[in-house]
Amino acid sequence: MKFFSFFTQELAIDLGTANTVIIHEDRIVVDEPSIVAIDQNTGKLIAVGETARQMHGKTHDSIKTIRPLRDGVIADFNAAEQMIRGMIQKIPTGNRLFRPSLRIVVAIPSGSTEVEIRAVRDSSEHAGGQDVYLIYEPMAAALGTGIDVEAPEGNMVVDIGGGTAEIAVIALGGIVCNKSIRVAGDVFTNDIQTYMRHQHNIKIGERTAEDIKINVGSAVAELANPPKDYTVRGPNLMTALPVEVPVSYQEVAYSLERSIAKIEAGVLGVLEQTPPELYADIVQKGVNLSGGGALLRGLDKRLSEKINIPFHVVEDPLHAVARGAGIALKNIHNFPFLMR
Ligand SMILES: Nc1ncnc2c1ncn2[C@@H]1O[C@H](COP(=O)(O)OP(=O)(O)OP(=O)(O)O)[C@@H](O)[C@H]1O
Ligand SMILES: [Mg+2]
Repeated sequence: MKFFSFFTQELAIDLGTANTVIIHEDRIVVDEPSIVAIDQNTGKLIAVGETARQMHGKTHDSIKTIRPLRDGVIADFNAAEQMIRGMIQKIPTGNRLFRPSLRIVVAIPSGSTEVEIRAVRDSSEHAGGQDVYLIYEPMAAALGTGIDVEAPEGNMVVDIGGGTAEIAVIALGGIVCNKSIRVAGDVFTNDIQTYMRHQHNIKIGERTAEDIKINVGSAVAELANPPKDYTVRGPNLMTALPVEVPVSYQEVAYSLERSIAKIEAGVLGVLEQTPPELYADIVQKGVNLSGGGALLRGLDKRLSEKINIPFHVVEDPLHAVARGAGIALKNIHNFPFLMR
């Protein structure tokens, strides 16, 4: 009904541990880090998204920066609610004169507990969503990369975000088997911090470690097009004097080895549970890699070689889940896998 839709605005939200992406009418209208800055004295919100990220690690007593999600789920309910509200306010509205009613689809990790699901639903409702639907992230990732999820065919998706690696096999509009493991981008960043401390006696913050990961991150010790070493500055742990250390991609590959092996084991675990007919489809078509972690150099190659099935990094891996949630939103009455 046209009249109805005039008053209802529809939003698809990927509430990620690292980034929040909002789609409205097929367009990305918000794409910001999942972080807020809060005034410690008044409890008021000071900044949301990129502006809050710039304050992260640089605050004093009366400002606190909070990442409301950890390991894919809401860890700070109040901050999450303020963040969702703030992100929705960032949507450019044109000259809208009234506040329309909001229908929202939010993507959630496939391993979410009842309590975690409740937290997402409640905070979305408190932030203004009248009509809230939920979709599992791997389903959204599959939809967002153009997979026909309702076909009688097996498809495997691996989405490596900031908080979780979601591994799932999808067929006939449902998740056949899956695993959500809490090893992803944040753990990689942490591995790099630990490595720098032990190997180079240098203390670095989360942002610097993430910069190392993005600039010289690698999943393999040999790359065809290696990036140049990345120079890091920071205090020596013993002397507190400033030092400069060049970091190579091989060092990063070494520091990430154990975590990547855990993701590999997760993928193998899901493949073991996969019924043979679907397994055959997956071997033939390969596996779709999405999420920011898919951008780690050499990860697709490493997984392909270890598991002997081709892994492909999807187009625009950071937005696959949000786009898929957006597609689900448009078919809200036809998709059995949307939860209310
Ligand atoms: N080029 C890159 N190389 C390696 N890692 C990257 C790169 N670009 C982004 N990342 C990492 O990807 C992660 C963010 O990915 P994404 O936005 O998919 O996560 P998310 O959806 O917020 O998290 P989750 O789905 O786990 O809740 C961050 O940890 C970030 O450091
Ligand atoms: Mg994600």
